[in-house]
Amino acid sequence: MLKKTLIAASAIPLTVLSLTACGSDSSSGDGGGSEGGGSITMGFAQVGAESGWRTANTKSIQESAKAEDVDLKFTDAQGKQENQIQAIRSYIQQKVDVIAFSPVVETGFDAVLQEAKAANIPVILTDRAVKVDDDSLYETFLGSDFVKEGEKAGEWLVQNAKDADRDGDGTINVVQLEGTTGAAPAIDRAEGFADTIGADDSIKVTASQTGDFTRDGGKQVMESFLQSDDSIEVVYAHNDDMGLGAIEAIEAAGLKPGVDVKIITVDAVKDGMQALADGKINFIVECNPLLGPQLMDLAQKVLDGEEVPKRVVTEETTFDQEQAKAALPDRQY
Ligand code: AHR
Repeated sequence: MLKKTLIAASAIPLTVLSLTACGSDSSSGDGGGSEGGGSITMGFAQVGAESGWRTANTKSIQESAKAEDVDLKFTDAQGKQENQIQAIRSYIQQKVDVIAFSPVVETGFDAVLQEAKAANIPVILTDRAVKVDDDSLYETFLGSDFVKEGEKAGEWLVQNAKDADRDGDGTINVVQLEGTTGAAPAIDRAEGFADTIGADDSIKVTASQTGDFTRDGGKQVMESFLQSDDSIEVVYAHNDDMGLGAIEAIEAAGLKPGVDVKIITVDAVKDGMQALADGKINFIVECNPLLGPQLMDLAQKVLDGEEVPKRVVTEETTFDQEQAKAALPDRQY
């Protein structure tokens, strides 16, 4: 059980903003504000439910909060930054002990984080980073190294470029399905990939567009790419869901995903791993969504006044088709 030691919230109740118009807000307890000694209250503003990764991440946070007897106030921001900011303001008004969130996009959080700081409520970033002028506005950032993920995807392509050259013309035509515009994983995965494939002149990114991290988005963007170009040889999708959408579009166009068009994705959720084991995806870079236990641990340390690292990077691996077959039976998400 996580215990309050440092932060003792005021007993004066304030009006609590209603979030029903902009997102879903739920709590496992009766609200924060009790004096020290009890379990802690955490406000968590989640991005949304756009992908299998996000569903697994939400489950991990909710289960870990329950296991540690944390009173979790959870908001689904439905992919909108304004909802997330409103949720954070509501947590400040409710005088939660700690706020955690996974930012929809990188910029535009300075003002609300300053409000949290002024209210003496520590903030922990999970999964995604923010770009702020003053990094004392958050205690720590727990999550993946997205640039590295993009590099791993690029390294696989550089090593397997010849196999991808379907028409044998010496040029590998790649299309990129980007994540949500302005989100850290979309920016960083594109950067890491571009830097790595830059070492090989034969690899060309011929089109790149956002599919917003959703299966439908990936399918629609891939359909439009295929309508205007029949020479696509590789899809680099910033997550499994968009890759799975692309598979549907590729099959509908009469091509074989994983054979005619090589597919590289990021996440390694079960559906993605199954498609990899089935030969429809060629390579997946893992992004671990199970951040709940580490988040609860960091929250306790912050509230105990212990020093925590400013950056905690998640350990991750990669999977090819054979590795996916071996890992699938024990895959947790
Ligand atoms: O921020 C993590 C990313 O967000 C995941 O890779 C993607 O699936 C999700 O939507």
